[in-house]
Amino acid sequence: MSTGPRLARTRSFTRRGDRMPPRHHAAYDRLSPRYVVQVPPDGDAGVTTVDPAYRLDREREFGRLAPLVVEIGSGSGDALRHGAAERPDWDFLALEVWRPGIAQTMARMGEDPLPNIRFVEVDAGQALGTLLGPGEVHEVWTFFPDPWPKNRHHKRRLVAPPFADAVHRVLAPGGLWRLATDWADYADHMRGVLDADDRFELVSTERAPLRPVTRFERKGIAAGRSITDLAYQRLG
Ligand SMILES: C[S@@+](CC[C@H](N)C(=O)[O-])C[C@H]1O[C@@H](n2cnc3c(N)ncnc32)[C@H](O)[C@@H]1O
Repeated sequence: MSTGPRLARTRSFTRRGDRMPPRHHAAYDRLSPRYVVQVPPDGDAGVTTVDPAYRLDREREFGRLAPLVVEIGSGSGDALRHGAAERPDWDFLALEVWRPGIAQTMARMGEDPLPNIRFVEVDAGQALGTLLGPGEVHEVWTFFPDPWPKNRHHKRRLVAPPFADAVHRVLAPGGLWRLATDWADYADHMRGVLDADDRFELVSTERAPLRPVTRFERKGIAAGRSITDLAYQRLG
């Protein structure tokens, strides 16, 4: 089995702890066997890594082969649940390091199960290079990635050339990378990275059709920031 490029662990997140309310704990315990794909870690490099030799068998995990959306950093799952409910004919794979967010998403799904969602608890920066096969993904979503606004923290931003390589590899030709941010400076940074990459073309700055208004968007607007949506298409 060939594997993709091995990426370093990213520093786009800090461990925010796994504390969560008891009902989210209960939802995690009850529903994770169904929704959270267990992946082997990369040796002793930590629980949010995945063994680069491991490849997700999505036909087995979803029980079918359908167009696949990969959401990077699904947080508490608003976009994920909305997308999966609107497009039952697509599958949605969330890569998220923050277990309380996964638990909260599943707690909300408890009453309204969505069979087309799966989670992998991994650092997407490390995992995306190997977890999926080349060209397997219809759309990648990166909505409101942690902005790391201080200059000295910009190197922690997820959207950077090595991550663009990983996204390019997993996207099918013609597939879309949809991004949104409420930080103008991060929007400029995203455009700087992706406009300079001739493997991608900017095809829309309209709101992504399946992106609902989330807490991060509301907070950004309340703080006087404006929202940027970008959709880049994989060329060739
Ligand atoms: C600011 S929140 C936005 C959540 C959600 N996309 C939304 O719009 O509400 C960013 C999320 O990305 C996750 N995250 C950051 N870096 C990540 C990485 N390298 N791999 C997976 N998830 C990551 C964080 O844990 C957090 O839940």
